[in-house]
Amino acid sequence: MILVTGGAGYIGSHTVINLLNANKKVVIFDNLENGHLETVETLKKIGNVEFIKGDLRNIEDIEKVFKSYKIDAVVHFAAFALVGESVENPGKYYRNNTFGTLNLLDTMIKFNVKKIVFSSTCATYGEPQYTPIDEKHPQSPINPYGTSKLMVEMIMRDYDRAYGLKSIKLRYFNVAGCDNQTRVGEWHEPETHLIPNILKSAIGKEKIFKIFGDDYDTPDGTCIRDYVNVEDLAQAHRLALEYLETENKSDVFNLGTEKGDSVKNIFDVCEKVLNKKIAKEVVERRPGDPAMLFANANKAKTILGWKPARTIEDSVSSAYKWELKNKNFCN
Ligand code: UFG
Repeated sequence: MILVTGGAGYIGSHTVINLLNANKKVVIFDNLENGHLETVETLKKIGNVEFIKGDLRNIEDIEKVFKSYKIDAVVHFAAFALVGESVENPGKYYRNNTFGTLNLLDTMIKFNVKKIVFSSTCATYGEPQYTPIDEKHPQSPINPYGTSKLMVEMIMRDYDRAYGLKSIKLRYFNVAGCDNQTRVGEWHEPETHLIPNILKSAIGKEKIFKIFGDDYDTPDGTCIRDYVNVEDLAQAHRLALEYLETENKSDVFNLGTEKGDSVKNIFDVCEKVLNKKIAKEVVERRPGDPAMLFANANKAKTILGWKPARTIEDSVSSAYKWELKNKNFCN
């Protein structure tokens, strides 16, 4: 049985589908603060999925999972992930993302479970000193969200030394798109991410899409990011689990497409895929946005055998179907 914390959330739910497709049994642990019960219900219809509602900050909740199921490995997503909120309320991030993970790791050791795939982030690198960013790039996060995840990476290193806990840390760049059958998707409240915000403007849920600054030091003046498809990302988690099973070694991998797209590029792709004009305006920069982030993901390709296959057009198109399907309830 694979324990997926945060399996009712965006990346977690797509990874659950990928694991089910590989005939794995999954138990989801989620406090449903950001995850959705509807997502769990959908996943239960797809395959062998159990669900326990619980919170990482409460060790009894976690122990309940390990007492109820024979867990072979953990894929750990459950976390808060809003950069701006983490600056305003750092304690919330350290308590949940860092301290909550410590509870999880201690419980794993207690129950002799020693394999974990961890959802880390390119936010652990901070301001890029060079691009593309590889795994050797210095880690100097510029917000508590990134720090809360970096602390977990460091704890995992120490838990390997002390207890032989093997971890794969996956540092994602920007995640985009949805399940190609539109069963699960990106459903954040509030929504802050670029592609869903453009699409919400296109279908009339937000009036005008706002570009946060066009005076960056980039070719078109808007920020450049590396948008990796969520189904490709889910596949990387399965490969990481298999790597842990066969190699039993800790490691860290960037996950990105190695291709940078500017905000304006993405906006143009959305207009092209939807075949319609979308209202937009340029506003002030959003504080804390670096001009350019994109990955060197060569290590994941060579060691894990990961092959990101979907294009940015695929991501926009699946995300659009999801927005249309959920127009009436998805914020
Ligand atoms: N953007 C807009 N308008 C919007 C939303 C976003 O112009 O309505 C711009 C942002 O300014 C940024 C780019 O689009 O330049 C991407 O923004 P997102 O909010 O979609 O993603 P971020 O790059 O800010 O954040 C992502 C992850 C975080 C992670 C961070 C690391 O979502 O979890 O990368 O830098 F921490």
